[in-house]
Amino acid sequence: MTNIAVVVGSTREGSFNRMLGKLAIRALEAKGAIVADVDLSDFDLPLYSAAREAEAFPADAERLKRLFAAQDGLLFVSPEYNGSVSPLLKNAIDWASRPTGDESLVALSAYRGKASAVMAASIGPFGGLRGLMHLRQILSTIQTLVIPEQVLVPNAHAAFDADGNLVEALPATLVEMTAARLVAVAKALAV
Ligand code: FNR
Repeated sequence: MTNIAVVVGSTREGSFNRMLGKLAIRALEAKGAIVADVDLSDFDLPLYSAAREAEAFPADAERLKRLFAAQDGLLFVSPEYNGSVSPLLKNAIDWASRPTGDESLVALSAYRGKASAVMAASIGPFGGLRGLMHLRQILSTIQTLVIPEQVLVPNAHAAFDADGNLVEALPATLVEMTAARLVAVAKALAV
């Protein structure tokens, strides 16, 4: 059994990244993964600061960390904001990278040794490529193995049909390829 969490870096109503995330979930499940669909609006995460952390570790940050820690693989689907990942996503990644106040969790990494993958949808012509380059670097820094496959959906406002499927064959194929590789690598790393 391979457990994969899918985390979308936008909570916007009608989010294109959420639409892409839904397709990724379908592809991951078709490859036999058990998927945790992580909606960041379900987590009450303050903007990270060391001062805020010193006051008290937020319960939802610990819940997110435990959820990540229970996975074999992580898929991040992020919009590009000014050439980088969304602050919503970076904040969530940062909180879950911190040791909690619970001593038994101090040594627990939410990320180390897991497989990860990245996807983006953007209304611009480059599909969020610059944001994904930053995201890859972040995911390597926290000791995940980022698979080389990725999905970029440029001109996202025209990329999905009424059913939420991708109009173009190439990104649709890349969703399948990325999902397949993520499940395979996550499974291999878990043994
Ligand atoms: C953007 N957007 C954007 N798009 C892009 O391709 N490159 C960029 O650097 C940026 N920068 C940027 C900054 C900020 C602050 C905002 C709010 C937006 C546009 C972005 O791609 C668009 O809003 C997407 O629709 C966001 O993704 P969701 O919410 O549809 O998933």
